[in-house]
Amino acid sequence: MLALTPSELALFAQGQQPNLSPAELARLQGGSEAEWDSMAKCNFNENPYGPPESALKAMSHAYKFANRYGYPDDNIQQAIADHHGVKRDHVIMGAGSGELLNVVGLTYLTTNDTKVVGSDPSYGSVYQQATSIRAEAIKIPLLPDYRQDIPAIISATKKHYREVGFVYLCNPNNPTGRIVTKREIRQLLDGIPEDVPVLIDEAYHHFVDDSDYGTSVPYVMEGRPVIVTRTFSKISGLAGMRLGYAITTPAIALKMREHQTGTINALVQWAGAAALRDTASQEQVKKATLELRKKAVADVKAMGYESLPSETNFFMVHIKRPVQPVIDAFKAKKVLVGRPFPPMLQHLRVSVGNPDEMVRFTAAFKEIFVNGAVGGSRGG
Ligand SMILES: Cc1ncc(COP(=O)(O)O)c(C=O)c1O
Repeated sequence: MLALTPSELALFAQGQQPNLSPAELARLQGGSEAEWDSMAKCNFNENPYGPPESALKAMSHAYKFANRYGYPDDNIQQAIADHHGVKRDHVIMGAGSGELLNVVGLTYLTTNDTKVVGSDPSYGSVYQQATSIRAEAIKIPLLPDYRQDIPAIISATKKHYREVGFVYLCNPNNPTGRIVTKREIRQLLDGIPEDVPVLIDEAYHHFVDDSDYGTSVPYVMEGRPVIVTRTFSKISGLAGMRLGYAITTPAIALKMREHQTGTINALVQWAGAAALRDTASQEQVKKATLELRKKAVADVKAMGYESLPSETNFFMVHIKRPVQPVIDAFKAKKVLVGRPFPPMLQHLRVSVGNPDEMVRFTAAFKEIFVNGAVGGSRGG
């Protein structure tokens, strides 16, 4: 039987990102709009530009369905199927890809001792949900260069084969921004027993440039038990509207649908369909984000701080000191940065904001690290 805590149930009910702690969520919901407006938001890996014009227009149009239960949805599910070259029964829509990650947990972590195997740190909501439904997470540490340890994931999966509900792979990984290569994905899928489901979270797919990376959708077409999730929250700027989807085999899709809890509203269905067609805006967001990331990484490097190579809309700086006081110091300067990601407690995750936010981030970084606002002047 499922045992969700009241706060987790509240998150499900609200369709919020489960990676926000209940306290953080309450603070944001209860906080003043003026204070929220005044902060540079480099903390949640959001798209700072908001939905593209095409999606805003589509949402305005779809207001006419706001009072209805049944209405046309611009055929979004078919559009997604066409986009990936799969049939419609391979697509499951969710209120954010976070809902679908939870649904995979509810589908495959069915008894108390079932386990999810994945890297640590990675996108924590999968492990949090496993714990909340009394399953277990086998967390494999990252390699010394902060890449995911595929051989260790394979060994752990084989060792616990009977109890493994599924393997989770975030590609590129949050919080590090590093990719798992095409070759490693094949190594993983060929290395574990063929009936173990593998959930591959491609939330940051659209920001990747590295040619060693590839989507795992083709493995679904081969009929492997692979579930690939994507989101409209990042590249399409629709995080607050909640829309994501999974591509998987029709058999897995059928099982997953039994556990769905969210509903997708009319506005975001139309927005998603428009955003999917709007490849020019996707390119613009990618270009602006990568340019700003490159500049910020160079700026902090010039101050003596290295960042991990990132293929996403965020990057991690090795700050060579405990991260929590630094997070607090940024907040005092009205710049929100990522939370701590144990055990990487000397790394700071920075989401790439808009140009103004990045100027504020770099200025705050300089004040904190060069002028020594936290723990003395050590950075140089
Ligand atoms: C790796 C990863 N997966 C999934 C999500 C959830 O995204 P959403 O539920 O907005 O689609 C996030 C959000 O930050 C994420 O970083």
